[in-house]
Amino acid sequence: MKSLEILIREHGLIRQALDIFSFAKETLEKGKRPPREFFEIAVEFSRSFADQFHHFKEEFLMFGLLSQKKGALFDGEIGALRYQHERGRKFIGEIENSLQGYSQGDVFATTKLLENLASYISLLKLHIHTEDHIFFQMVKKEFSEDEDHVLLEQFKNEEKRIGATDCFENSRKLVAKMHALIEQ
Ligand SMILES: [Fe+2]
Ligand SMILES: [Fe+2]
Repeated sequence: MKSLEILIREHGLIRQALDIFSFAKETLEKGKRPPREFFEIAVEFSRSFADQFHHFKEEFLMFGLLSQKKGALFDGEIGALRYQHERGRKFIGEIENSLQGYSQGDVFATTKLLENLASYISLLKLHIHTEDHIFFQMVKKEFSEDEDHVLLEQFKNEEKRIGATDCFENSRKLVAKMHALIEQ
């Protein structure tokens, strides 16, 4: 399915970012302090790419079409994935809120940053694994070629509507920037 290939490709970039986040987490665990800018870019990437660009396609387009077609059959799985998207947003919000204190060396803010970063990484790894290996495998059996085509068009239209046609490329640059900042 072409629409699933797009989502899986996007998962690839999110996984790359998560690996870099993990490196930052380990750095914090050793008492070192990656620059604030690193975490600002991490928040930007998570919001613009993982959430707005990627999760939107799943939540509002793919899950929507699946519910339309199969009624309540996938409600349990969809509900769990939606909940994980929501929790991810919450962790990112908490990371953002901790950055002012973190940059001033506040220990409480640093703790808050570390715990929310760890939670975000762990949650997203589980989430992507579930989608790639379980949920998308179920979805594959439900959609016809025509429906895949409809979904693909909806993905393209949505990218145009939110002005995000360059989002993948820009987000790749953000990942490279984070990599450079953490390697210093
Ligand atoms: Fe998802
Ligand atoms: Fe996903």
